[in-house]
Amino acid sequence: MSTGEAFRGLLLAGVALVFLGCRQDMHDQPKLQPLEASDFFENGMASRQLPAGTVARGQLREDVHLWQGKDAGGNVIDGMPMIDGKPIEITRELLLRGQNRYEIFCSVCHDSTGGGRGMIVRRGFKQPPPLSEQRLREMPNGYFFDVMTSGYGVMSSYANQLPVEDRWAVVAYIRALQASQMSLLSELPSEMQEQFHHALAAASEPAAEEHH
Ligand code: HEC
Repeated sequence: MSTGEAFRGLLLAGVALVFLGCRQDMHDQPKLQPLEASDFFENGMASRQLPAGTVARGQLREDVHLWQGKDAGGNVIDGMPMIDGKPIEITRELLLRGQNRYEIFCSVCHDSTGGGRGMIVRRGFKQPPPLSEQRLREMPNGYFFDVMTSGYGVMSSYANQLPVEDRWAVVAYIRALQASQMSLLSELPSEMQEQFHHALAAASEPAAEEHH
């Protein structure tokens, strides 16, 4: 390498270093972080206080049916509330979502059938009543929503884990659980009623036949 080349090399490296030194990152620019102290405003805070009554977008929660499961008089509602002007429909999709959330957040205590013998209970936590007991079957939908939203006795609130739509999906799933355990034969589709009668007839035929 000639001295000329070496010199040029050094010069280039020098120029590159100079430019590196000049670089200013966006994150280095003068600015104030939220909640940082600052003497710019009189109260010494960098952030301004929100005006009283400020509501974040989408968090108005004026619809008490939807957000509290209650009517204007404070009574729990039956049926399902409206979302975006349409009543929440009981679809397969809603029930599957409810089942998924129930399995994750509730079955640990209430077990998958709602019987109340979930793993946490088997390890010593207070046993909840079966979700399909008569008293709870007669409770309106809003009651279950309210239990999840506010908590009940030793059971804590699930409002932080379950967004409002999910809580309604779990309500629908609890109704399905209850129906699955306590249906009247006359409420089943006619094919199922027939199947049941066939099975019953087969079961009551003399067992002796089988020994030929
Ligand atoms: C950590 C255990 C635990 C979890 C998880 C739990 N629960 Fe409970 N739940 C209980 C206990 C215990 C009670 C009875 C509370 C009492 O009597 O103090 C109860 C009571 C209830 C009741 C009956 C209230 C009544 O009137 O008797 C409902 C309904 C209910 N839970 C629904 C749910 C749903 C839905 C979830 C899931 C989102 C859930 N629970 C998650 C423990 C739990």
